Amino acid sequence: MMAEDSPRAWRAAEFFAGIGLARLGMSKAGIDVVWSNDIAPTKHAMFERNFGTSEDHTFLVEDLGKLSREQLPENTDIAWASFPCTDLSVAGGRAGLHRGIASSTFWHFIKALSKLGSARPPVIALENVTAFATSHSGQDIASAIRSLNGLGYSVDVLSIDARRFVPQSRPRLFLIGTSAPVATMTEPSPLRPDWLVPIFDDPALVTHKMHVPEPPPLLTDGLVAYLETLSEDDPRWWSTERVDAFVGSLSDLQSERFNTLRDGKTGTARTAYRRMRQGTPRWELRSDGIAGCLRTSSGGSSKQAVVFLGQGDVRIRWMTPREYASLMGAPEYPIDGVKEHHAYSGFGDAVCAPVVEWLSVNYLVPLLASMEIDVIPDEARQLEFVAS
Ligand SMILES: C[S@@+](CC[C@H](N)C(=O)[O-])C[C@H]1O[C@@H](n2cnc3c(N)ncnc32)[C@H](O)[C@@H]1O
Repeated sequence: MMAEDSPRAWRAAEFFAGIGLARLGMSKAGIDVVWSNDIAPTKHAMFERNFGTSEDHTFLVEDLGKLSREQLPENTDIAWASFPCTDLSVAGGRAGLHRGIASSTFWHFIKALSKLGSARPPVIALENVTAFATSHSGQDIASAIRSLNGLGYSVDVLSIDARRFVPQSRPRLFLIGTSAPVATMTEPSPLRPDWLVPIFDDPALVTHKMHVPEPPPLLTDGLVAYLETLSEDDPRWWSTERVDAFVGSLSDLQSERFNTLRDGKTGTARTAYRRMRQGTPRWELRSDGIAGCLRTSSGGSSKQAVVFLGQGDVRIRWMTPREYASLMGAPEYPIDGVKEHHAYSGFGDAVCAPVVEWLSVNYLVPLLASMEIDVIPDEARQLEFVAS
């Protein structure tokens, strides 16, 4: 048996691993990710650059739907799955969990858990956009939860915005499933907001609510500290003509905001997105000092600009891949030599690492600890695996 004072090393499998920000967050909470899978070689290349390779971790670059029972991970405590959101978001046309090609990969995850049989992990965590809760009038999330219930998991649903941890607006939905009985709490929590009530009101769907401590407050400022450079000499600032085109596209309301900030006594940074308004592309500045939600890059409109204004001066440039990394809670992630569009896609598609860390420390690890799972040292787990 493991020595009394040895910390328990929880083991996780990371489905839809992407560039590994779920791994980054979980590992900070003492959870070892031992197995990862993603279909995209470019994401895997970034993952490997950051985490390297080791004997105690397997990465399968493959379509999850094609993995056999033998390729799936044994002896894990947690399965994390940030499945593709494309068909659940408004931008993706809301084809949904059943008809959408990308988001129907959720069912690959269900099939994988089903193939694992009694070897499936006791805790699962799913992450997606908050629109998952309302997709097809709530029918998508209802069928997802029912299928998890069918595998023996009771499910809790939380909404966490990354802006509690980093200056980026990134609300996301988290479904936590557990195969053990959990004491249900009824106290209110900002992580179970009113708009989730229809789900909580259906006892057939949300079958446990674990106590969650008060999360950090929502940030409304702080972007400047996450910016790579504001130096006047940086060659990435746009030309005067391009800045003029930006200013020319602003609506009356936006111009007012822009002029007030530009003429302010101190310098301030804002982010801006280009949006189509009645068939015309228009730049829109955020009213607060945080970034908008980083998105996966598929053309200019998915990227945001950094706008520095004050004392009559204006400088504008695209947000850099390094800034994307920092705003996703991974400031040290190595991106030198990574193609820019791969970095933008990788981080724009990822889960914010500090959110995963917070959820792991405050929910997943306490949940596992409360389940009194047999503490099996790693060597014994390997023996069991070899024997089976
Ligand atoms: C929302 S992203 C998850 C990102 C990840 N959490 C991270 O931090 O980078 C969804 C991922 O699912 C992957 N994916 C899409 N279809 C897949 C499939 N059939 N099998 C395995 N992975 C798939 C995509 O390549 C993408 O990286």
